[in-house]
Amino acid sequence: MSSGLDRRQVRRAFARAAPTYAAHALLQAEVGARLLAQLDESDTAATLVLDVGSGPGSSVPALQRRWPQARVVAVDFALPMLRLAAAQVSVGAGFDCVAGDAQALPLAADSVDVIYANLCLQWCDDPGLVLAEFRRVLRPGGTLLFSTFGPDTLHELRSAFGAVDARPHVSGFIDMHDIGDGLLMSGFRDPVMAREDLTVTYAHARDLMRDLHAIGATNAASQRMRALTGKRHLARVIEAYEAFRVDGRLPASYEVVYARALAPDPGHPLRNAGMDIASFSPASLRGSRVRR
Ligand SMILES: C[S@@+](CC[C@H](N)C(=O)[O-])C[C@H]1O[C@@H](n2cnc3c(N)ncnc32)[C@H](O)[C@@H]1O
Repeated sequence: MSSGLDRRQVRRAFARAAPTYAAHALLQAEVGARLLAQLDESDTAATLVLDVGSGPGSSVPALQRRWPQARVVAVDFALPMLRLAAAQVSVGAGFDCVAGDAQALPLAADSVDVIYANLCLQWCDDPGLVLAEFRRVLRPGGTLLFSTFGPDTLHELRSAFGAVDARPHVSGFIDMHDIGDGLLMSGFRDPVMAREDLTVTYAHARDLMRDLHAIGATNAASQRMRALTGKRHLARVIEAYEAFRVDGRLPASYEVVYARALAPDPGHPLRNAGMDIASFSPASLRGSRVRR
């Protein structure tokens, strides 16, 4: 089942954005650091750590510091992102890059100690399949740590587009409770979920749009937008965004969701509550709490 995201288009957008990504991904870097801070000091020794949806590898040095004995493997399906990761972190010294899709990880079952995935899940067209893959490759007791965005993310932008036409222009995001349910249904144990609201402020709505474009985050709705984002249309969206101006700045809200869970012990069944996790659909994850 598909969430409506065009996976090839997502990959193309991130591949195109690779050269500009790091300079504009300040929020993503901040969330990545906060995600790692969700771990207790005592948590988990590791020999193999995956950074899934690694982008240009910005989190890799922090992962190497956290697990100095481990091999860190960056996985991404956008090759230009991986090339940047390989150029920035010396491959070989405990670091590898692997081209692969989070929905079909090119790794053996039970082979990974820690999966870290910062702001990747919301780009996957079948989040349930991603959770199933995470579970498959994690060793029993291995740690899953990921962040994603919740439904309030970019609500100002959604509303500004909504004032101009009735078509969806900003991705729908999964509610935190549905993600927690999805983890349990995928067989993970002891899930710990947290959410926080972060706000980035801009002088102009155009600056927000430029940031989103520069990190490749324009693609999810782009098919629907393409015919509609002429200059005049965009000018009306920008005008509508002005309604949110506070103290001379325009806010862009992000609802950040952090999730930590452990892979189950050996022998734990792959099915839960009669649900086949391999076909666990985003529709069932999203429930009625998605807002577009
Ligand atoms: C918003 S960026 C986050 C990058 C990095 N984790 C960070 O914190 O800066 C999302 C990344 O996930 C990758 N990605 C999205 N869907 C993916 C998938 N199905 N399989 C592998 N990588 C994917 C994109 O290519 C992109 O590099």
